[in-house]
Amino acid sequence: MVIRGGRPLEGTARLPAAKNSVLPLLAAALLCKGESVLTQVPRLLDVEQSVAILTALGCRCQWRGRGLAVDGAEAGGDGALPEGPVRAMRSSVFYLAPALHRCGRVQMPMPGGCKLGPRPIDIHLDGLVKMGARVQWQGESLTVTAPGGLHGVDYSLRLPSVGATETLLMAAVLAPGQTVLRGAAAEPEIADLAAFLTACGARIRGAGTPLVQVEGVEALTGATHTPIPDRIVAATLAAAVASAGGRVKLLGCPFEPLAPTLEILCRAGCTAEHGGNTVTVSREGPLKGVGRVYTGVYPAFSTDAAPVVAAALLTAAGHSAVEDTVFENRFACAEGFSALGGRAVRCGRALEIEGVARLSGADLRAQDLRGGAALAVAALAAEGESRLFGLAHIRRGYGDLAGTLRALGADAACRRE
Ligand code: UD1
Repeated sequence: MVIRGGRPLEGTARLPAAKNSVLPLLAAALLCKGESVLTQVPRLLDVEQSVAILTALGCRCQWRGRGLAVDGAEAGGDGALPEGPVRAMRSSVFYLAPALHRCGRVQMPMPGGCKLGPRPIDIHLDGLVKMGARVQWQGESLTVTAPGGLHGVDYSLRLPSVGATETLLMAAVLAPGQTVLRGAAAEPEIADLAAFLTACGARIRGAGTPLVQVEGVEALTGATHTPIPDRIVAATLAAAVASAGGRVKLLGCPFEPLAPTLEILCRAGCTAEHGGNTVTVSREGPLKGVGRVYTGVYPAFSTDAAPVVAAALLTAAGHSAVEDTVFENRFACAEGFSALGGRAVRCGRALEIEGVARLSGADLRAQDLRGGAALAVAALAAEGESRLFGLAHIRRGYGDLAGTLRALGADAACRRE
């Protein structure tokens, strides 16, 4: 991606559906014996990997314009997930519970994804074991079976893992009896998954809160569902405005999930207005440092938004520090920030930033999804040309980041790597 910085952003952008909703929703479609249609699905690499897994498990997947239909009527087989897609993304873990229900077993290598530090799946597995599953590791290969089927359980999560909450929700909807999940994660994507499952016939209460209750049903039908908008894309574009200056209206953007990001950007000198599912972010004057900010589980400032906000703060006069309490290695983008002339040093889980007056274009390499987007955000503020490599990371979560930025007036374009 070639970016020549220095142009303010102006215009409107409509948010795509949330990657972190779409991926578990696609896995949940495997639970259904009928057809499900997700409308407005962005063409992301992780969506393609999900389609590959669903197809390997016997689902019929079909793009219909921007909708993606998944027919699980014929799903089944031996539950062996294809290795490439599983290793390519963390979200392959979402197939554990649906494949167990449909195939009676699941076999897969350890899921891949962004290298943000250790990302064990012990809570997913522990919860499934409490529901009647058996887990076997052979080296890197995981096999989970459920000889007597799964059953409802009263389970307290060791920590509010988003993915584990979604796994156990998908396990519980077809498990006979009642399941109670305590200490569940409360991210909006979990409520979205529950809304889809409920439309398919599941009986769920409390999803999106720390206490989730599920009454198992015998079968799910499939449904048509519009996933919620992507709050991380929203945070990325808001940070891009902070970095480049200008004024951008985000359409289809609920305020609440973006509020913690906006609060930090406004403290740095941006302005945010909202109303009627539209958020407008602008920045006219210079940015100032915000001191120390922390990420946390929802509704706190999102870990995924930390790198893009940090990118905007590179030119904020004074000191800022962004500390990620969720992942150990959130700021692999620090090297690229330095290459641009930023003064950003990793210190444990935090990125310590001393604002500089100017950044200069450089060659950059994305190391992970959100860090890659953060390098693009920083490059918008840099004088001269930046060339950003490693775009496969970015395409996992952004359909066309360069195109989106270009539509807002940025000088950004992709060339073949
Ligand atoms: C999801 C999001 C990701 C986001 C993260 C935190 C998706 C597809 N991805 O990832 O974008 O950054 O939530 O908001 O929705 N943990 C364990 N054991 C487990 C599970 C998690 O120790 O079994 C730890 C992780 O290592 C991490 C923390 O819990 O330190 C949070 O992880 P989790 O909430 O599970 O994140 P993901 O579901 O992987």
